[in-house]
Amino acid sequence: MPWAVNLPRHENMSLLRAFIAVEIPLEIRKTVCTATSKLRNEIEALVRWVPIENMHLTLKFLGDVSPSNVELLSQMLRAELDLFNCFDLHLNGLGSFPSLKRPRVIYIGIQTPAALEALQRGIEAASSRLGYGSEERGFAPHLTIGRVKQNITATEQQILRRALEATKIDSLGTARVDSVQLFKSDLRPAGSFYTPLYSASLRKS
Ligand code: 2AM
Repeated sequence: MPWAVNLPRHENMSLLRAFIAVEIPLEIRKTVCTATSKLRNEIEALVRWVPIENMHLTLKFLGDVSPSNVELLSQMLRAELDLFNCFDLHLNGLGSFPSLKRPRVIYIGIQTPAALEALQRGIEAASSRLGYGSEERGFAPHLTIGRVKQNITATEQQILRRALEATKIDSLGTARVDSVQLFKSDLRPAGSFYTPLYSASLRKS
């Protein structure tokens, strides 16, 4: 990122890894876990499953952030969220990126209401103005539930594909979105650990 290029090394070392996301209510995350438990059992060892406390809808992955920019990002979030009303999200169906044929990320789909798209676009543009580059891929709202392990064999890939194709998941409920969080992500040997740094509220409709 341009602003980070000339920082002295000791400052670079204290950068945070951060992202902006919507927390999904615990009840809905539990429903997601129940609805996917058979699939999990079938392909347990082939996937790094996301623990329930880590499930969220990412709106913007910021990457490395200077601690001194956290306040600026919080202000940005507050200003953006002031422009939008609360809205509902519908969780529905199982999918995988980049495709069902070559699954790397396994997710639960999220229906994209116009309000979510507008909010995400606003956050993307405001982040970009602060020096956090734009995503080249379009926004595909999803709840990641697992990431396929790197070193699986061709036979295991086939087992995985078949299990995904055979799993039918319908509506998993509706989540009211009334706030958005700025999270810090720590990559630990036991897995990612996410800490909310700031929460901004949407306008009450
Ligand atoms: P996800 O939304 O598909 O789960 C924290 O790492 C969050 O930011 C994750 O939930 C992750 O993906 C999302 N993310 C988006 N782009 C990322 C990237 N380039 N590196 C790491 N995480 C990224």
